[in-house]
Amino acid sequence: MPLIMRSLAFLVCLTVSLAADDTHAEEGKRWALLVSSANTWINYGMQADVYHAYWLFREGGIPEEQIIVMAFDDIVNNDKNPFKGQVFESYDLEDVYKGIRIDYRRESVNKDVFLSVLRGDKDAVKRLTDSDGKVIDSGPSDNVFVFVSDHGAPGYIAWYDNNFLSAKELNQTIASMHEENRYKNLVLYVDTCFAGSMFKDTLPNNIGVYAATATNATFYAYSSECHSRVFGKAATCLGGLFSTNWAYGAQSDDRSTSTMNMQFQGAKIACQGATTPMQYGDISIAHMTQKEFFGDSVLNRNILRRSRPRRSVERASVIRKNMLAYQTLKNQLAALPKGSRGAQRLMARVSSVEKLMGLADKFFLDTYTSVHGRLATNSSTTWAETNFGVIKWSCYEPVVKAVMSLCPKMMRTEEVRYYAGAKFGVLVNLCNQISTAKVLAALKRAAEINPLCAV
Ligand SMILES: *[C@@H]1O[C@H](CO)[C@@H](O)[C@H](O)[C@H]1NC(C)=O
Ligand SMILES: *[C@@H]1O[C@H](CO)[C@@H](O)[C@H](O)[C@H]1NC(C)=O
Ligand SMILES: *[C@@H]1O[C@H](CO)[C@@H](O)[C@H](O)[C@H]1NC(C)=O
Repeated sequence: MPLIMRSLAFLVCLTVSLAADDTHAEEGKRWALLVSSANTWINYGMQADVYHAYWLFREGGIPEEQIIVMAFDDIVNNDKNPFKGQVFESYDLEDVYKGIRIDYRRESVNKDVFLSVLRGDKDAVKRLTDSDGKVIDSGPSDNVFVFVSDHGAPGYIAWYDNNFLSAKELNQTIASMHEENRYKNLVLYVDTCFAGSMFKDTLPNNIGVYAATATNATFYAYSSECHSRVFGKAATCLGGLFSTNWAYGAQSDDRSTSTMNMQFQGAKIACQGATTPMQYGDISIAHMTQKEFFGDSVLNRNILRRSRPRRSVERASVIRKNMLAYQTLKNQLAALPKGSRGAQRLMARVSSVEKLMGLADKFFLDTYTSVHGRLATNSSTTWAETNFGVIKWSCYEPVVKAVMSLCPKMMRTEEVRYYAGAKFGVLVNLCNQISTAKVLAALKRAAEINPLCAV
């Protein structure tokens, strides 16, 4: 055979195999949207969760164009960061920041941009962010993975700017994505307090969507690796308890044989009952292999270290996310010499946060008692936090908005806002007991006598 013929034959083979690859690609792309709006040093771990997740997808060979990262990005060069330029999700100190591509940061990490990116609305994203509008540009044969690590309140993801994302809004966006054939399988992982309330009684099980949450509808999520042994007086939590464990699972599992469910169950066991991770929607999706969403880790084995096993809870080292501001200060205090100037300053901050928390308790207690009269005991200021019913949105939505405007200081002060958000269960219950107008009137009465609600 003349040389030219042989080259031609070779070329034909090459074309055929390329075409085969293309066909494979047509079978479906994988997309990831990784998000944390949480800002400031105390919320370090929520950004770290997102950064680590990014590398899992890179490791799996998912192209950068198909991974979208939204993170506030005020940690890596934070004044408090003793390891400038680096971010770790655990005390293994594996840097998960260097080389990352963050698509949306600072103020553009908000609810409207998130929902627009998710539903693939380039024009909306351009309008909202003044960027070229990178979105989840997915089609009917694609798998989409969404991960949120943040704070929460009943029925809400507590976005940093107080423009909270409700379960109802998220559900609507998912429904429209389903109608427009924007995915084959859609998976959502949510690590926030009350994360289950984003899906329970809401997410249908027949639209190709599976959700895994750090906790059930009525309980808190935890941050982990919070002690001061490594970061000293800059102590902060390095990750979410659930997130760290699913991510390190994905990092060490063989993704072509292990299922999404195995990853979930491993993370759940590692939480050891501190909280109960949950699954919602179409659970059959959990029986797909991890490769279908994360790609195959064999492709880029060198990106992350592989040695890290799943961790179980080190009890002294976890903090409920709604208590993060307060407990983090206490951990930082523990790292300072007793009686030192620094310790005294921090003590003063701790007691000022205690005061803020007391005022937030009072606000919800006053709201409740102005409807129902005195409570039998004082120890029950948390009475409804983990004991609330089904959300009646027609009342609860305007009531939550009213809290934002009646008590701006409570909802804008870092040290108390998430603590307050965790008390919204009181409002869920009041909405099930009396009219919206009456709940609003009770809120107003409580606000009038609370310094946190003074403008
Ligand atoms: C959630 O969306 C589905 C459609 O996907 C709809 O049937 C259901 O009523 C919605 N639930 C809520 C609480 O909005
Ligand atoms: C939610 O999870 C918490 C913590 O694991 C548990 O104590 C509580 O009973 C759960 N609530 C429901 C309704 O299952
Ligand atoms: C509740 O606390 C207030 C002030 O802290 C106190 O005066 C009151 O006796 C307490 N009531 C009960 C029932 O413990």
